[in-house]
Amino acid sequence: MPDAPSPDLSPFDAVVIGAGAAGLFCAGQAGQLGVKVLLVDHAEKVAEKIRISGGGRCNFTNRDLDPRAPHKHFLGDNPHFCRSALARYTPADFLALVQKHGIPFHEKHKGQLFGDESSDDFIRMLLAECEAGGVTHWQPCSVSAIAHDGEGYTLQTSRGAVRTRAVVIATGGLSIPKIGATDFGHRIAQQFGLRVVAPRPALVPLTFDGAAWAPFAQLAGLALPVRIETGTKKERVAFDEDLLFTHRGLSGPAVLQISSYWKEGTPLRIDLAPGQDLAGELLAAKARGSRKLIANELAQWVPSRLADAWVQQDAAWQRPVNEASDKALQQLAARLSAWELVPTGSEGYRKAEVTAGGVDTRELSSQTLEATKQPRLYFIGEVVDVTGWLGGYNFQWAWASGHACAQAL
Ligand code: FDA
Repeated sequence: MPDAPSPDLSPFDAVVIGAGAAGLFCAGQAGQLGVKVLLVDHAEKVAEKIRISGGGRCNFTNRDLDPRAPHKHFLGDNPHFCRSALARYTPADFLALVQKHGIPFHEKHKGQLFGDESSDDFIRMLLAECEAGGVTHWQPCSVSAIAHDGEGYTLQTSRGAVRTRAVVIATGGLSIPKIGATDFGHRIAQQFGLRVVAPRPALVPLTFDGAAWAPFAQLAGLALPVRIETGTKKERVAFDEDLLFTHRGLSGPAVLQISSYWKEGTPLRIDLAPGQDLAGELLAAKARGSRKLIANELAQWVPSRLADAWVQQDAAWQRPVNEASDKALQQLAARLSAWELVPTGSEGYRKAEVTAGGVDTRELSSQTLEATKQPRLYFIGEVVDVTGWLGGYNFQWAWASGHACAQAL
């Protein structure tokens, strides 16, 4: 239950704004170190993003994270910024906490750790950690102004004014506004003269132009493993993951991952039959005199719905294999293994799992997450220009940045 409103100026060592992953974790850790913490959130319920994460099971960290090479799994203007915090609070540290609370978990592919039962287990764990640290909760409670007077900060909140030594901004990114996301953190950074890297939706489905997409719209719901790439030769990024066709475009882990790197106006390249020598197989089938329709032959290597839709693109592909020219078979194979297409946009913050960009890391200490220009003002979690891959990396950043900040409060 939220605590009663404060009747007057209440002195707190630190006020953490935002009771999501980073804020809850930081508040609990700091409280247990003896810091008197007030945690405020404008939403009715805490940690709504944890609740909906990982399909309701919370992919809470990733065993493959290598803090010595953060650029492998994190993006941002300075991908090495997160190294210090990630090295000081690792996936193994968080896992030990999960085990201490007796939460059952399992590993999915590529090091991803999920709860066995419900994301609520993790929210209860974080709230128990806050309770152990004597954290005061005000919720729902909005903050309308933050002023600094040299001695400390005064916050104007919907429950009255609060006086504090330190302020921690943990209000997250802009994705999923309907569950409470705001640009509050970016505005506070700007108020104190800190630069903000332009935010953009990331880990987001991509969309395609209506007419050009029409032949593929019928494939909505189809999923298949692919290799997907973007970028120039020098800076090529590639993922081997599952692709999902939707009515408006493409989604699935392959597209969510690549979306964080994709630049507007540039193409994606998709190999729809990775590891297959399609041209060789089709030419061999022709040499055997196969009378099967090309689509039926193709269906051995790609889903038949895709094969049927794909051959509709060219009359030369709508015939038996033994009647097709070698050139037509080679072109068909080449197009399937290097499908090049330019997304028109993305599904935006409504569907994005995270926000790329945010408070410029050059404005923050990588040790403590404190603003270098503004004493005792800290930014943690997704509000910072640190964006992880799909697979538990974003929560690990929330825990690690919250932990680094808690040690400094
Ligand atoms: P977070 O968004 O968790 O919390 C911010 C808090 O601040 C919220 O409680 C909000 O109400 C509050 N707030 C905002 N504005 C405020 C204001 N003006 N005043 C007061 N309070 C304010 N990551 C991962 O690693 N594994 C996963 O399985 C998933 N799954 C997933 C699914 C979906 C659908 C989404 C949208 C996202 C994920 N993520 C994820 C990403 C992950 O949820 C995200 O990166 C973290 O929750 C970020 O933690 P923060 O604490 O920074 O922000």
